[in-house]
Amino acid sequence: MKKVLLCGYMGCGKSTVAQILSHKTDLPQFDLDDLIEKNEGMSIPEIFEKNGEVYFRKLEHRLFTQLMGSPDDFILALGGGTPAYANNHLLMNGEGVTSFFLRASIETLHDRLIDENENRPLVAGKASDELKEHIAKHLFDRNYYYNQATYTVVVDGKSAEQVADEILEKLA
Ligand code: S3P
Repeated sequence: MKKVLLCGYMGCGKSTVAQILSHKTDLPQFDLDDLIEKNEGMSIPEIFEKNGEVYFRKLEHRLFTQLMGSPDDFILALGGGTPAYANNHLLMNGEGVTSFFLRASIETLHDRLIDENENRPLVAGKASDELKEHIAKHLFDRNYYYNQATYTVVVDGKSAEQVADEILEKLA
């Protein structure tokens, strides 16, 4: 049984790497945010705006728990905050589960998120300095949870393809 989880901050490449891994392994891949959007019939920003973050975190926890309880094998890209709420990090290891923390520097995350934040309500519209400070604070709070992953892969300066290959080496 194989469940492969990818975690890390927004912009670290979880979704892209999950897609590459799925092609290379023939395992199906899911993206927790996409599944939540499908289930709710709303985008993530709409869910945050309409029902608030706590509501989102409850949905996220429920869906993640359901997936981890299924007998299926898959690659799953978590949301950036998933490991840091509702004890979700406790499901990131154990029998048949291997998790990867895609670790990126504040600079890398800033450079990726400054142009790609419209679907990410927690960082949308932030100016450069404010965004950096926000990422730094979040990482300070979240690194503890990300570090519960089975393995850490540094992504700075690497293509998604290279990151996926490193993950495959660890899974072999
Ligand atoms: C969040 C990250 C997002 C999404 C939501 C909250 C976070 O996922 O789950 O906007 O708390 O870091 P991505 O990391 O896929 O953007």
